[in-house]
Amino acid sequence: MEKVAVVTGANKGLGYELVKGLCERFFGRVYLTSRDEKRGTEACEKLKNEGLSPEYHQLDITNSESIKRFVYFIQNKHGLIDLLINNAGILFLKDAQEPKSEQVDNTLLVNFDSVVSFTELMLPYIKEDGIILNISSSSGHLSRIPSDEIKKKLANPGLTLAELDELVQDYKDAVKNGSDEEMWGSSPYVVSKVALNAYTFILNRRLSDKGIRANCVHPGYVKSDMTKGLGTITPEDAAKVPLEVALEAEDGGLYVWHDGTRVQWDGPDPRGYIDNIL
Ligand SMILES: NC(=O)c1ccc[n+]([C@@H]2O[C@H](COP(=O)([O-])OP(=O)(O)OC[C@H]3O[C@@H](n4cnc5c(N)ncnc54)[C@H](OP(=O)(O)O)[C@@H]3O)[C@@H](O)[C@H]2O)c1
Repeated sequence: MEKVAVVTGANKGLGYELVKGLCERFFGRVYLTSRDEKRGTEACEKLKNEGLSPEYHQLDITNSESIKRFVYFIQNKHGLIDLLINNAGILFLKDAQEPKSEQVDNTLLVNFDSVVSFTELMLPYIKEDGIILNISSSSGHLSRIPSDEIKKKLANPGLTLAELDELVQDYKDAVKNGSDEEMWGSSPYVVSKVALNAYTFILNRRLSDKGIRANCVHPGYVKSDMTKGLGTITPEDAAKVPLEVALEAEDGGLYVWHDGTRVQWDGPDPRGYIDNIL
């Protein structure tokens, strides 16, 4: 049976390089997906001009109709896939002019709620022994949340998706009444990626009896549109560790840093001792 891989948000940046690397190393069919069809098909053409053979499908993870169309397509065309990389994400930089409520709603919608909705609908079509890789961030480390009480709830090995959803809702409510910063910190991106990591570990626990492994990766500070070209690593180099984890990791429940180190999610903040930036 032909192997199938899917990458979200892959028309540019890290996602594009993940598709490129999979075309070279995955030995199966690789779907480059994007919310904008023109940008996605152009990205696919670019890879085809390099002699690679990605396939294209439109997928906006915030749009339930788009998700349904994609899941239906996969179900009918392939039945099952081997690898899902949830890469699509957004970040409002510190100087963003949008009101905080808008930043919180959009960041949580794209980076957490939609990843969960999409992944949950894809689960029946992920092969036993398959892989789910969530592209997280250093911002997803649990130490980034100030409240010990919230950290304890998130790190509970019995945490369910319903409980995680409730915690994320608590955060959104706290933002509305202006009481979020003391408990959750000032960055909606941090909350979104911490929640994404918590979801990764929930998934891994839920799916381990099927042999499905769910992992998350911090790809580094990547020179992409997200960082307005700032960063310390090119998207091509940043794709190397996620590709290694996607193609080679035998374990699930991993949080892997851009240098390949396996980081303890609920341990000390790794940025200082690994990146030497503190
Ligand atoms: N850059 C960094 O330093 C850094 C560090 C840590 C983690 N990350 C994570 O790495 C991942 C890739 O980031 P990047 O640096 O490559 O950023 P990027 O160049 O801005 O690419 C983000 C991708 O996500 C897509 N996307 C956004 N919303 C979407 C939606 N609703 N449905 C489908 N696709 C959507 C974008 O599509 P459009 O082109 O249509 O907008 C784009 O293809 C993200 O999850 C990010 O959080 C990045």
